[in-house]
Amino acid sequence: MTSARTASARSATTADGSPVVLVRDLKVAYGDTPVLDGVDLDLAAGETVALLGASGSGKSTLMKALTGFAPITGGTAHVAGHDVPNLARGELRHLRADVGQVFQQFNLVPRLSVLTNVLTGALHAAGPINLVGGFRSEHRRLAMHYLDRVGIAHKATDQARTLSGGQQQRVAIARALMQQPRVILADEPVASLDPRLADEVLELLRGIARDDGIPVLVSLHVLPLALTHSDRIVGLRNGQVLVTGRTTALRREDLSVLYDDAEEAGDDSDD
Ligand SMILES: Nc1ncnc2c1ncn2[C@@H]1O[C@H](COP(=O)(O)OP(=O)(O)O)[C@@H](O)[C@H]1O
Ligand SMILES: [Mg+2]
Repeated sequence: MTSARTASARSATTADGSPVVLVRDLKVAYGDTPVLDGVDLDLAAGETVALLGASGSGKSTLMKALTGFAPITGGTAHVAGHDVPNLARGELRHLRADVGQVFQQFNLVPRLSVLTNVLTGALHAAGPINLVGGFRSEHRRLAMHYLDRVGIAHKATDQARTLSGGQQQRVAIARALMQQPRVILADEPVASLDPRLADEVLELLRGIARDDGIPVLVSLHVLPLALTHSDRIVGLRNGQVLVTGRTTALRREDLSVLYDDAEEAGDDSDD
């Protein structure tokens, strides 16, 4: 489907060629408690960046800040052309339409079909008024295109709740693509999946970044997954970036500073 490809290719960078996400010295605080303390982050066309850090290091808060869900107290954050701390009236909806999100728990509507779940991704941009006549056939074609992209077009008419965890996360990724996002934020997308499925889903996300040009920020708390499935790593500890670099240039030892001694950073047998 050429229209979708064109839209994706166009979304690779902002009009002036700068990164899709550009964050400098970002600070977030809840009341008097600082949670992010001077974070820098770039996300450019084609990249998959792993956001690594122990539980409580601020990964989810950073993703929330990028979509206007966390109280920014300092610094700058430009996301898909939106100046997040200084959004114009009514711009928040456009920011969120430009950011595809994927979550640990998939967040599908269990009794709706896979296809309908994907179609809800189009609502972000369309707004509720377009629901009146149901989804247009062009939306259905696009939804099937994205289901094919994530490898589960054959499940389109099944209820979402009947799918395995790995399949449900694929549906959630197709739903995010349905927004025709300019960036994808995936917050611990494989924390509920067994290791083989985790590898598959992370490779799918990386392929979307590489082939469709939509940069992906994926938070992971497990070190080996970040080393295997990212182009760059940004490592948070206590709300600060402690380690960052190209993944191929980082070794496990470089990243162990992200974790308390008590935590086994290299073990993915969490939960
Ligand atoms: N709404 C909130 N109010 C107060 N503190 C919060 C809130 N959300 C997160 N925090 C705190 O911010 C820190 C980072 O949390 P979070 O971003 O969820 O970390 P991670 O995703 O890396 O596990 C934690 O200490 C957490 O308790
Ligand atoms: Mg989190």
